[in-house]
Amino acid sequence: MSIRPQKPAPATPAPGKLPITELAEMKARHQPIVMITAYDAPGGRLADDAGADLVLVGDSAAMTVLGHESTVPATMEEMLILTRAVTRGARRPLVIADMPFGSFQASDEDAVHNAVRFVKDAGADAVKLEGAGAMLPRVRAIVGAGIPVQGHIGLTPQSATMLGGFRAQGRSAEKAIALLRDARELEAAGCFSLVLEAVPAPVAGRITRELTIPTIGIGAGADTDGQVLVWHDILGLYEGRAPRFVKRYAEIGEEIRAALTAYSEDVRERRFPEEQHTYAMADEELALFEAAASDHPEHADDRC
Ligand code: KIV
Repeated sequence: MSIRPQKPAPATPAPGKLPITELAEMKARHQPIVMITAYDAPGGRLADDAGADLVLVGDSAAMTVLGHESTVPATMEEMLILTRAVTRGARRPLVIADMPFGSFQASDEDAVHNAVRFVKDAGADAVKLEGAGAMLPRVRAIVGAGIPVQGHIGLTPQSATMLGGFRAQGRSAEKAIALLRDARELEAAGCFSLVLEAVPAPVAGRITRELTIPTIGIGAGADTDGQVLVWHDILGLYEGRAPRFVKRYAEIGEEIRAALTAYSEDVRERRFPEEQHTYAMADEELALFEAAASDHPEHADDRC
């Protein structure tokens, strides 16, 4: 019986994998941490090639790749498929699976069960979950099970309805103090890092200085320990209105549209395929084939 190598458990990271402890050292060295979302194997590989430290399989997939209007419909099964694909592509970066809405809110048991699935069935190195307050026991339970947790506060898209829409958070002194309290509590609960989304820069800066764990900002200014952007936003692939914090580094969507249009026109105009795209056949084999096909015309008819 052959013994197949097991996928490494979180306590024994794969060779070449960024050790999670390195993130706190990067914070101490003031070395910015790069996080990028990805949703498939090529995305994981390209983010790795680009030197990303963290790859997030975000539930933003619900909007960017599955065509929903919000992140809420993302399911565990969908997120597991996407996470498996990303972990096949990304080697050095830590791959963080985003726990979708409904996978952790109801109980600690649900939270641990689903976090374990991400690590064991999909090869994730860590999970991310949105919220603080009532979610603190979930963080403690998952960390207690040996799985690293990244927190996420500020604009938490899974609860956008409760927050009054996709809008910046912590813009009054009272709300900013509540965010600082949430951040401290998530650190105390055991999070290894914290995403701050759509938070005023000075508030994110103060939270970053108060915490020993690294903060990763998205729309949170330049003073967080790292930055994250969504794949489709960086590359110009998402057609909706981008939030003000997005910087586009390419217009891949336009390039794809132009390439697909050129291909379609080539097919219609019979410019594709050309000789170089086709397989040859020895003349004698072709002659034999033609003769055999003419000898048995009824068989050819049968297949029509
Ligand atoms: O789902 C996601 O992509 C995220 C990032 C925006 C942080 O949560």
